[in-house]
Amino acid sequence: MTGRCAAVLSCSLALLLVGAFGCGSDDSAPGQHGDAGLGAAGAAGEPAVDPHAGHTPDAHAKLPAAPPMLAVEPWQGELAIPSFDDEDDDAATVEVSLTAALADVEYVPGQSTTVWAYNGTVPGPVLRARVGDRIVVHFTNMLPEATTIHWHGVRVPEAMDGTSAVQSAVRPGASFDYAFTALDAGTFWYHPHVRSDVQVEQGLYGAIVIEDASEPLAELPSEVLVLSDVLVDPETYALDATTDERVTMMGREGNLVLVNGRRSGIESSVRAGEPRRFRIINAASARFFGLMAPGATMLRLGGDRGLLEAPEPLDRLLLVNGERADVVVWVNAPSTTASLRAVPYERALGAGMTEEVALVYLAATDESALPTFEPPATLTKMAPAPAASGTPRTLELDEQTVGDEVRFLINGAANPDIPTLEATLGASETWKIVNRSSMDHPFHLHGFFFLPAGQREWKDTINIPGQRTVTVMPHFDARDGAAGSWMYHCHILGHAEGGMMAEVDVQ
Ligand code: C2O
Ligand code: CU
Repeated sequence: MTGRCAAVLSCSLALLLVGAFGCGSDDSAPGQHGDAGLGAAGAAGEPAVDPHAGHTPDAHAKLPAAPPMLAVEPWQGELAIPSFDDEDDDAATVEVSLTAALADVEYVPGQSTTVWAYNGTVPGPVLRARVGDRIVVHFTNMLPEATTIHWHGVRVPEAMDGTSAVQSAVRPGASFDYAFTALDAGTFWYHPHVRSDVQVEQGLYGAIVIEDASEPLAELPSEVLVLSDVLVDPETYALDATTDERVTMMGREGNLVLVNGRRSGIESSVRAGEPRRFRIINAASARFFGLMAPGATMLRLGGDRGLLEAPEPLDRLLLVNGERADVVVWVNAPSTTASLRAVPYERALGAGMTEEVALVYLAATDESALPTFEPPATLTKMAPAPAASGTPRTLELDEQTVGDEVRFLINGAANPDIPTLEATLGASETWKIVNRSSMDHPFHLHGFFFLPAGQREWKDTINIPGQRTVTVMPHFDARDGAAGSWMYHCHILGHAEGGMMAEVDVQ
């Protein structure tokens, strides 16, 4: 009973804080949008652009309502995702087989949903390796359409990046071998780069964990939490691919939030104070995850590119599409239930303001609390940032409605008509990303990391809040195979496929 009361109490606490978290679109106080943490890093201090430039808010006023969320009760489930079988005896090589095909899964226990899956599960198996390992993936496409695999955040050679810029898509029945060396420790993920708005939503995504035994906290085991959502028919649980104006404009948000391919709300038992380390990936097509852990203490250890310089205490964390976070969470008191929750965050006019969802419940036993977890004060030392050279570039993100069609634009054009940028191998640049639209766009660069202005954390995906400018410094490191064509795009997959995707040619 005590546990239950605590859970109820924590929920109302979270609700109180929601006001501070989701910010209204006409709320123009500088910094406010950026308060949500990681996702909006770099926004604070940047001058906001003219909030009325080039945009007609009225176009959004008529959008159909978001689908109501399916009710979720806490349930006892399995959090773990299967790993691959390593087919190679060599300790420094991870060699695996990956097949994309139709499968039936149970997003909701007892209810079957037909999906597209990697090796039969959603998410696909976790690809685990150590820094320096050679990774070989024998990929076979058994889907009814062509596909590729992109290794999001992994510094692969250009030919292995899985985009239309570097390979022709793998046809149904065909195979392709991906091979690369793991250069960075951290949490990454894999997903198709062909019709990604459809293919990822069908179930094609999986986690990548690269470990480095010499890092601090290497002995603290981690659990992967792949967050996503799907729109299912509430009666049959079949995937619902209906497209309306809201979907076209905002990307598809589902009515069922998934944690590791299962209905959210999985409960597990812990001892108070026991640190649980989660590597969290936002693999959703369009849903942002505003994360809070009422009843627990949360520390962020890492982001897109492995460990931070120092652990960061957190009340809330915004994880936009494609972004990752490595966090430690522990329940504060015995006999209480804490939860990791997704709270509303308004990413566009009204979008994202759906109900709060409990992702994972952590129910503390009545045993006394363990001593407070103390991570080392320094997790990693960042090398001095390379100085940016050349004239800063400006990338303007916008949208345009022509008749029934919405196009998402970079510098006034939509893919494939956006001129390719040219950059120099080994150089760092300054990219000013100006969001002229009223909706947030999570910006992702392939193959390289960037430093948000004034920050000391390398990232590959960052939120560009509506009507705001975020400046980032990409570093085009001259590693083997880095020369060539790399994509950058909005990671709301409907926006990328709707035009907001382009290439940078690095030579
Ligand atoms: Cu995660 Cu181009 O993508
Ligand atoms: Cu976008």
